[in-house]
Amino acid sequence: MKLQGKTTVITGSAQGIGRAIAEVFASEGSRLVISDINIELAQKTADEIKTKYGFDTMAVAGNVSKLEDCETLVKTSTDKFSKIDILINNAGITKDNLVLRMSETEWDSVIAVNLKGVFNCIKAVSKTMLKQRQGRIINISSVVGQMGNAGQINYSASKGGVIAITKTCAREFASKNILVNAIAPGFIRTAMTDKLTEGQRQMLVSIIPLARFGEASDVAKAALFLASDDSSYITGHVLSVNGGMYM
Ligand code: NAI
Repeated sequence: MKLQGKTTVITGSAQGIGRAIAEVFASEGSRLVISDINIELAQKTADEIKTKYGFDTMAVAGNVSKLEDCETLVKTSTDKFSKIDILINNAGITKDNLVLRMSETEWDSVIAVNLKGVFNCIKAVSKTMLKQRQGRIINISSVVGQMGNAGQINYSASKGGVIAITKTCAREFASKNILVNAIAPGFIRTAMTDKLTEGQRQMLVSIIPLARFGEASDVAKAALFLASDDSSYITGHVLSVNGGMYM
């Protein structure tokens, strides 16, 4: 078991990639805090994972765009488990539009969740991890933050910003043995990509060398590597899980 005795907090983990990470981490012995804005689904996910793997799993409601919620998440987690070894900043949303048509609300809401949300959670957990003198932070970016994407100025800016946050925090926290890395998934089969039309799907598959979308479990296995002792000399890295779409 690669995460025996560890405590992991995962934002946006009621479903999709976050849930897949939770499952893989539970199967490797980690205790979990399933945090999501959708508390009913988060509670259901936490109950199912606890039943399946037997490790202590708790659901906590929270909107990552609010610093107060992130501070409550950290307090609730440390009150129960005394420590947080791993934070996965996974919560994210899309509100796509062409630049000319994008509203201020569409821009602000995506930046608030995807970019400020990562800052909020890192700020909230930093005191705990600095005191522990150890920790892992894994930020879920996107291939779109590396290469841009028409119709996603808000999302690509937020995900590019997540890479910059990752490198900054990796430098700031390295001396305290807190490793900070990012994963940049390509197109992964989840509720987020279910919104794509068949035409968009076919176009995307045509530019992915592996010629298919990835699975949430592909991202979860990369997260396990970055959370485990196997990656103890890696920080500030952006790990692509994209079928070769961007290299
Ligand atoms: P999803 O839509 O299936 O799950 C996102 C989860 O985040 C949901 O449970 C939702 O309730 C929660 N959430 C939304 N806003 C929140 C907030 N303000 N506070 C707390 N929780 C909130 O999406 P998916 O596909 O699992 O995405 C997870 C992460 O992976 C996101 O950051 C996304 O941008 C990123 N990503 C996804 C890709 C894909 O192809 N599915 C590709 C690249 C990155």
